Amino acid sequence: MKRTRCDQTRAWVNLQAYYSSHGKAFNLHAAFGSKTDRFEQFSQSAPHMFVDLSKNLIDEKSQQLLYGLVEESGVLQHREEMFSGEKINSTEKRAAMHFLLRWPHGNKNLTNGLLNQLQEVHQTLDRMLAYAERIRSDDSITDIVNIGIGGSDLGPVLAIQALVTHKHPKKRFHFVSSLDGVELGAVLDQVQANSTLFVVASKTFTTQETITNAQSAREWFVAQGGREVAEHFCAVTSNVEAAQAFGIQNSFGFWDWVGGRYSMWSAIGLPIAISIGQERFREMLAGAHEMDEHFRLTPVERNLPIRLAVIDLWYRNFFKFGSRNIAPYHRGLRRLPAYLQQLEMESNGKSVDLCGEPVAYQTAPVVWGELGANGQHAYFQLLHQGTDIIPVEFVAVKKPPPGLKSQHRIVIANALAQARALMMGQATSDSHREMSGNRPSTFILLEDMSPASLGALIALNEHRVFVTGSLWGINSFDQWGVELGKVLAKDMSARLSSGSDSGLDASSAGLLHQLRS
Ligand code: F6P
Repeated sequence: MKRTRCDQTRAWVNLQAYYSSHGKAFNLHAAFGSKTDRFEQFSQSAPHMFVDLSKNLIDEKSQQLLYGLVEESGVLQHREEMFSGEKINSTEKRAAMHFLLRWPHGNKNLTNGLLNQLQEVHQTLDRMLAYAERIRSDDSITDIVNIGIGGSDLGPVLAIQALVTHKHPKKRFHFVSSLDGVELGAVLDQVQANSTLFVVASKTFTTQETITNAQSAREWFVAQGGREVAEHFCAVTSNVEAAQAFGIQNSFGFWDWVGGRYSMWSAIGLPIAISIGQERFREMLAGAHEMDEHFRLTPVERNLPIRLAVIDLWYRNFFKFGSRNIAPYHRGLRRLPAYLQQLEMESNGKSVDLCGEPVAYQTAPVVWGELGANGQHAYFQLLHQGTDIIPVEFVAVKKPPPGLKSQHRIVIANALAQARALMMGQATSDSHREMSGNRPSTFILLEDMSPASLGALIALNEHRVFVTGSLWGINSFDQWGVELGKVLAKDMSARLSSGSDSGLDASSAGLLHQLRS
C-alpha cells in the first residue's frame, strides 16, 4: 500500500470537519459525566506500565478517525519497512534499526537479511559487556568519565540516574558534555589519573565539543603522570579510524543505522553497563524489546505508541497546541525531559516531507519539562491559568524507592492532584482564582524504576515519535539542521582570533568587535 501524507488523506478532511463540529468544544468534565466507562475505554496496560489517556480531549469518534488516518497514511506498512531494515532514512540512505540492538539472540522473527546483522550486534554487545564487567571488578578504577554530547550523553545520564539503586557501590560516574571546559575542570579536580577511565563517546568522532574535551582530558592525564593512555581511554564510535588517530586503541563500534538519539542500547551504553552490570543492562534491553513487540504486533486500537502519537497529532495539527510538558514524578527521571527533547525535536523538527516538499502543517511541538514536583513551583501556574493550553505528560512510578514509602505517597498524591486540577479547574466568583480546567494530560504509571521499565518507557517514546513522523511524511532519522551551526562556529572561532568581519552581517560583526574590544 502506498504511503500517503496525512494532509492528503480522506481521514484528514474528516478530522478537520469533526474538530470544527465537536473537537474544539470538547469538554472533559462533560465527557466523564456522559460515559461512566470513559476511564476503562481510554486507559490500558502495556509492557511494564499502565497508561491513562482518559484526561485527553478525545472521544470515540475522534479516536476512530485518527486510527483511520493511521491506516490510510500507510503507517503500518512503514512500520514493517523499519522492522525489515529498509533504508527509511532516505536522505542518508540508511536503515533505522535501533530495535535490533535489543533483539534477543537467535530470535527468528527477523527477516532473513537481518540475521547476520543480529549476530554482529550480539558479538559487539557481548564484547562491550565483558569489558564493562572487567572494569566493574577492577578496584583500581574508581571513576568513569563519559565525554559525549546529545545522544552520546543523554541516554547514559538518564539511565544511570534512573537506575541508581543498582549502581556499582565503588564506582563514581561523571558526565562531561559542555564545551566551555568548566565542567571538565570540575570533574578533573575530583579524580586521579591512574584510577580513572575516560569513555570518549561519539558516533562520528568529529563533534567539536566532545573532541575538544577529550583532547583536554588527555593532556591533563599525561600532565598528571598518567602512564597508559591506552588503558585509561576507550572510545565508543562508528568511526574507529578517527579514534585510533586520536590514540585510542580500545574502541567499541556501532553502525550507521543507529541514530545518535537512538543509541543508548549500543556500546554508547557502556557507562550504564559499568554502573548496573551486564545482567541489568540485558534486562533494560529486554524491556525495550517487549515494547518493540507490543508496537510491532498489537492492533492499532490497543497499540500504545500509536495511541499516544495520534493524540500528539490531534493536539498539534487540530488544536494547534505548540508544546508538550513532560512531568516526571520520580527523581531518577529528572533527565527524561531533556532526553525526550532530543528524541522528538531532533527527529521531527522538520519542515519538508520525504519528497523535499514543504509541509502544509505543523510538525514536532516543543517538548520541555523538569521534575513535576519542582515544576509545580515554577511553571505550573501557566499550565493552570495561562493563555496557552499545554498538554502535560505525567510519568510516575508505582513502587516506592527503597525506604521512602511515605514520602513517595506524597509525590504520587501531587501527580494525581495536578492532573485532576488541570482537568477540573476551579469555578469561583473571583476571576483571579478562576481556573478554566479542561486542560489535558496523559498519566503514565510505571510498575517500578527497574531496567526493564526504563527500557520499555524509552522504546515507547521512540515508536511514538516514529508514528507521528510517519504520519507527517517526514524523515525522523536525519538531522541536517544541526550542520550549518557547526560550520559557522568554526568560521566565527577563526574570526575571534583574526578580528576579520568581512562578509559578516552587521549584528555578528558588531558583537565580534564588542568581544574583541
Ligand atoms: O546534535 C547533532 C548530533 O549529531 C546528535 O544527533 C548526536 O546525538 C550528537 O550530535 C553527538 O554526535 P556524536 O555522537 O557523533 O558525537
